Amino acid sequence: MTDTLRPGLFLSFEGMDGSGKTTQMRLLIERLRAEGYDVLETAEPGGTPIGRQIRRILLDSANQELSSRAELLLYFACRAQNVDEWIRPALAAGCVVVSDRYTDSTVAYQGAGRGLPMDVIRGLYQFACGPTAPDLTIYLDIDRAIGLARAHARNAEHAAAGQTDETRIDNEAAEFHDRVYDAYAALAADEPGRIRRIDAAQSIEQVHADIWAAVETHIAAHSLSKGPRHV
Ligand SMILES: Nc1ncnc2c1ncn2[C@@H]1O[C@H](COP(=O)(O)OP(=O)(O)O)[C@@H](O)[C@H]1O
Ligand SMILES: [Mg+2]
Repeated sequence: MTDTLRPGLFLSFEGMDGSGKTTQMRLLIERLRAEGYDVLETAEPGGTPIGRQIRRILLDSANQELSSRAELLLYFACRAQNVDEWIRPALAAGCVVVSDRYTDSTVAYQGAGRGLPMDVIRGLYQFACGPTAPDLTIYLDIDRAIGLARAHARNAEHAAAGQTDETRIDNEAAEFHDRVYDAYAALAADEPGRIRRIDAAQSIEQVHADIWAAVETHIAAHSLSKGPRHV
Protein backbone atom coordinates (compact mmCIF):
# COMPACT_ATOMS: atom_id res chain seq x y z
CA MET A 1 0.00 0.00 0.00
CA THR A 2 2.93 2.31 -0.59
CA ASP A 3 1.98 5.80 -1.72
CA THR A 4 3.64 5.92 -5.13
CA LEU A 5 2.71 9.52 -5.91
CA ARG A 6 5.18 11.09 -3.51
CA PRO A 7 8.72 12.06 -4.40
CA GLY A 8 10.44 11.35 -1.05
CA LEU A 9 11.85 8.15 0.39
CA PHE A 10 10.62 6.58 3.63
CA LEU A 11 13.08 4.45 5.61
CA SER A 12 12.37 2.75 8.94
CA PHE A 13 14.68 1.02 11.40
CA GLU A 14 13.49 -2.04 13.24
CA GLY A 15 14.93 -4.56 15.66
CA MET A 16 15.11 -5.51 19.31
CA ASP A 17 16.34 -3.16 22.00
CA GLY A 18 20.15 -3.02 21.80
CA SER A 19 20.30 -4.02 18.12
CA GLY A 20 21.89 -0.67 17.21
CA LYS A 21 19.00 1.28 15.68
CA THR A 22 19.90 4.61 17.28
CA THR A 23 23.61 4.18 16.57
CA GLN A 24 23.02 3.28 12.93
CA MET A 25 20.36 5.90 12.30
CA ARG A 26 22.77 8.57 13.45
CA LEU A 27 25.47 7.32 11.03
CA LEU A 28 23.08 6.98 8.12
CA ILE A 29 21.51 10.41 8.60
CA GLU A 30 24.93 12.04 8.90
CA ARG A 31 25.96 10.45 5.62
CA LEU A 32 22.74 11.30 3.81
CA ARG A 33 23.04 14.93 4.90
CA ALA A 34 26.71 15.03 3.89
CA GLU A 35 25.61 13.78 0.46
CA GLY A 36 23.16 16.69 0.21
CA TYR A 37 19.83 14.99 0.95
CA ASP A 38 17.15 16.63 3.05
CA VAL A 39 16.41 14.30 5.95
CA LEU A 40 13.57 14.22 8.44
CA GLU A 41 14.48 12.18 11.50
CA THR A 42 11.69 10.81 13.64
CA ALA A 43 11.19 8.16 16.29
CA GLU A 44 8.38 6.02 17.64
CA PRO A 45 6.93 6.48 20.03
CA GLY A 46 7.73 10.18 19.89
CA GLY A 47 8.57 12.39 16.97
CA THR A 48 6.16 15.33 17.07
CA PRO A 49 5.64 17.35 20.28
CA ILE A 50 2.26 15.61 20.79
CA GLY A 51 3.95 12.28 20.06
CA ARG A 52 6.53 12.98 22.75
CA GLN A 53 3.76 13.57 25.27
CA ILE A 54 2.26 10.20 24.33
CA ARG A 55 5.74 8.62 24.57
CA ARG A 56 6.02 9.70 28.20
CA ILE A 57 2.86 7.78 29.07
CA LEU A 58 3.93 4.70 27.10
CA LEU A 59 7.45 4.36 28.48
CA ASP A 60 6.99 5.51 32.07
CA SER A 61 7.93 2.48 34.19
CA ALA A 62 5.40 3.70 36.81
CA ASN A 63 2.55 2.89 34.36
CA GLN A 64 2.55 -0.85 34.96
CA GLU A 65 -1.28 -0.92 34.91
CA LEU A 66 -1.49 0.48 31.35
CA SER A 67 -3.72 -2.04 29.57
CA SER A 68 -2.56 -3.74 26.36
CA ARG A 69 -5.42 -2.26 24.35
CA ALA A 70 -4.83 1.24 25.66
CA GLU A 71 -1.13 0.82 24.88
CA LEU A 72 -1.88 -0.26 21.30
CA LEU A 73 -4.18 2.72 20.70
CA LEU A 74 -1.62 5.13 22.14
CA TYR A 75 1.04 3.81 19.76
CA PHE A 76 -1.28 4.36 16.83
CA ALA A 77 -2.38 7.79 18.12
CA CYS A 78 1.26 8.77 18.20
CA ARG A 79 1.87 7.36 14.72
CA ALA A 80 -1.20 9.06 13.19
CA GLN A 81 0.00 12.41 14.50
CA ASN A 82 3.50 11.73 13.19
CA VAL A 83 2.19 10.80 9.73
CA ASP A 84 -0.12 13.82 9.45
CA GLU A 85 2.16 16.45 10.95
CA TRP A 86 5.61 15.35 9.83
CA ILE A 87 5.99 12.29 7.61
CA ARG A 88 3.54 12.95 4.75
CA PRO A 89 4.49 16.63 4.29
CA ALA A 90 8.20 15.70 4.32
CA LEU A 91 7.69 12.93 1.75
CA ALA A 92 5.62 15.26 -0.43
CA ALA A 93 8.52 17.74 -0.31
CA GLY A 94 10.99 15.08 -1.47
CA CYS A 95 12.79 14.45 1.85
CA VAL A 96 14.28 11.22 3.05
CA VAL A 97 12.27 10.34 6.17
CA VAL A 98 14.05 8.06 8.64
CA SER A 99 12.01 6.63 11.50
CA ASP A 100 13.35 4.78 14.52
CA ARG A 101 10.64 2.06 14.60
CA TYR A 102 7.27 2.07 12.78
CA THR A 103 4.36 -0.36 12.45
CA ASP A 104 6.52 -3.51 12.32
CA SER A 105 7.31 -2.77 15.98
CA THR A 106 3.60 -2.78 16.78
CA VAL A 107 3.12 -6.08 14.97
CA ALA A 108 6.09 -7.57 16.86
CA TYR A 109 5.57 -6.13 20.36
CA GLN A 110 1.81 -5.62 20.68
CA GLY A 111 0.78 -8.36 18.24
CA ALA A 112 3.21 -11.20 18.89
CA GLY A 113 4.51 -10.02 22.28
CA ARG A 114 1.23 -9.07 23.97
CA GLY A 115 -0.97 -11.35 21.86
CA LEU A 116 -3.31 -8.67 20.49
CA PRO A 117 -5.18 -9.63 17.29
CA MET A 118 -3.21 -9.00 14.09
CA ASP A 119 -6.32 -8.13 12.06
CA VAL A 120 -7.09 -5.32 14.51
CA ILE A 121 -3.50 -4.07 14.22
CA ARG A 122 -3.71 -4.14 10.43
CA GLY A 123 -7.01 -2.23 10.49
CA LEU A 124 -5.59 0.41 12.83
CA TYR A 125 -2.51 0.72 10.64
CA GLN A 126 -4.70 1.43 7.64
CA PHE A 127 -6.75 3.98 9.60
CA ALA A 128 -3.78 5.72 11.24
CA CYS A 129 -1.32 5.76 8.35
CA GLY A 130 -3.28 5.22 5.12
CA PRO A 131 -0.80 4.67 2.31
CA THR A 132 2.19 5.98 4.28
CA ALA A 133 4.36 2.87 4.52
CA PRO A 134 8.16 2.56 4.46
CA ASP A 135 9.84 2.01 1.08
CA LEU A 136 12.68 0.26 2.86
CA THR A 137 12.89 -1.15 6.37
CA ILE A 138 16.29 -1.87 7.85
CA TYR A 139 15.87 -4.80 10.23
CA LEU A 140 18.83 -5.11 12.57
CA ASP A 141 18.88 -8.77 13.47
CA ILE A 142 20.58 -9.43 16.78
CA ASP A 143 20.70 -12.44 19.07
CA ARG A 144 18.48 -11.59 22.04
CA ALA A 145 21.24 -12.15 24.61
CA ILE A 146 23.68 -9.88 22.78
CA GLY A 147 21.03 -7.19 22.31
CA LEU A 148 20.08 -7.37 25.99
CA ALA A 149 23.73 -7.12 27.09
CA ARG A 150 24.27 -4.09 24.85
CA ALA A 151 21.08 -2.42 26.04
CA HIS A 152 22.04 -2.98 29.69
CA ALA A 153 25.53 -1.55 29.12
CA ARG A 154 24.01 1.48 27.37
CA ASN A 155 21.44 2.02 30.14
CA ALA A 156 24.17 1.78 32.82
CA GLU A 157 26.21 4.37 30.91
CA HIS A 158 23.20 6.67 30.64
CA ALA A 159 22.39 6.23 34.34
CA ALA A 160 25.98 7.13 35.25
CA ALA A 161 25.55 10.29 33.16
CA GLY A 162 22.36 11.13 35.08
CA GLN A 163 19.97 10.27 32.20
CA THR A 164 16.97 8.09 32.94
CA ASP A 165 16.13 5.20 30.64
CA GLU A 166 12.62 4.13 29.86
CA THR A 167 12.25 0.54 30.83
CA ARG A 168 8.61 -0.52 30.76
CA ILE A 169 9.07 -2.97 27.87
CA ASP A 170 12.62 -3.97 28.87
CA ASN A 171 11.27 -5.51 32.06
CA GLU A 172 9.16 -8.07 30.19
CA ALA A 173 9.86 -11.79 30.60
CA ALA A 174 12.24 -13.64 28.29
CA GLU A 175 9.29 -15.39 26.57
CA PHE A 176 7.88 -12.00 25.55
CA HIS A 177 11.16 -11.04 23.86
CA ASP A 178 11.38 -14.45 22.19
CA ARG A 179 7.94 -13.93 20.64
CA VAL A 180 9.01 -10.47 19.46
CA TYR A 181 12.18 -11.87 17.92
CA ASP A 182 10.24 -14.61 16.11
CA ALA A 183 7.75 -12.05 14.81
CA TYR A 184 10.52 -9.93 13.33
CA ALA A 185 11.98 -13.00 11.64
CA ALA A 186 8.56 -13.86 10.18
CA LEU A 187 7.99 -10.30 8.93
CA ALA A 188 11.41 -10.26 7.25
CA ALA A 189 10.66 -13.61 5.59
CA ASP A 190 7.19 -12.45 4.45
CA GLU A 191 8.28 -9.12 2.97
CA PRO A 192 11.78 -9.53 1.58
CA GLY A 193 11.19 -6.74 -0.94
CA ARG A 194 10.64 -4.11 1.74
CA ILE A 195 12.51 -5.48 4.76
CA ARG A 196 16.29 -5.78 4.51
CA ARG A 197 17.68 -8.03 7.24
CA ILE A 198 21.14 -7.03 8.36
CA ASP A 199 23.40 -8.99 10.71
CA ALA A 200 23.65 -6.58 13.64
CA ALA A 201 26.30 -8.64 15.46
CA GLN A 202 28.93 -7.24 13.08
CA SER A 203 31.03 -4.18 13.88
CA ILE A 204 29.32 -0.79 13.85
CA GLU A 205 31.27 0.08 10.68
CA GLN A 206 30.26 -3.10 8.84
CA VAL A 207 26.60 -2.75 9.78
CA HIS A 208 26.70 0.83 8.50
CA ALA A 209 28.31 -0.29 5.23
CA ASP A 210 25.55 -2.89 4.71
CA ILE A 211 22.85 -0.32 5.46
CA TRP A 212 24.41 2.22 3.11
CA ALA A 213 24.52 -0.30 0.28
CA ALA A 214 20.80 -1.03 0.71
CA VAL A 215 19.85 2.65 0.98
CA GLU A 216 21.95 3.67 -2.03
CA THR A 217 20.16 1.11 -4.17
CA HIS A 218 16.78 2.50 -3.14
CA ILE A 219 17.86 6.09 -3.74
CA ALA A 220 18.98 5.16 -7.25
CA ALA A 221 15.76 3.23 -7.94
CA HIS A 222 13.75 6.23 -6.71
CA SER A 223 15.79 8.77 -8.74
CA LEU A 224 15.76 10.86 -5.56
CA SER A 225 17.11 14.36 -5.97
CA LYS A 226 19.07 16.38 -3.43
CA GLY A 227 18.00 19.46 -1.39
CA PRO A 228 17.69 22.20 -0.44
CA ARG A 229 13.95 22.03 0.00
CA HIS A 230 11.48 23.38 2.50
CA VAL A 231 8.87 21.32 4.25
N1 LIG B 1 27.62 -3.23 16.08
C1 LIG B 1 27.79 -2.96 17.39
N2 LIG B 1 28.75 -3.58 18.09
C2 LIG B 1 28.91 -3.32 19.42
N3 LIG B 1 28.16 -2.44 20.13
C3 LIG B 1 27.20 -1.79 19.48
C4 LIG B 1 26.95 -2.01 18.09
N4 LIG B 1 25.92 -1.22 17.71
C5 LIG B 1 25.54 -0.55 18.82
N5 LIG B 1 26.31 -0.87 19.88
C6 LIG B 1 26.18 -0.35 21.27
O1 LIG B 1 25.08 -1.05 21.86
C7 LIG B 1 24.27 -0.18 22.63
C8 LIG B 1 22.84 -0.20 22.09
O2 LIG B 1 22.81 0.41 20.81
P1 LIG B 1 21.60 1.35 20.38
O3 LIG B 1 21.99 2.01 19.12
O4 LIG B 1 21.19 2.21 21.53
O5 LIG B 1 20.46 0.24 20.09
P2 LIG B 1 18.87 0.41 19.95
O6 LIG B 1 18.61 1.84 19.57
O7 LIG B 1 18.51 -0.56 18.86
O8 LIG B 1 18.28 0.01 21.25
C9 LIG B 1 24.92 1.19 22.58
O9 LIG B 1 25.70 1.35 23.75
C10 LIG B 1 25.79 1.12 21.33
O10 LIG B 1 26.92 1.94 21.45
MG1 LIG C 1 17.32 3.31 20.34
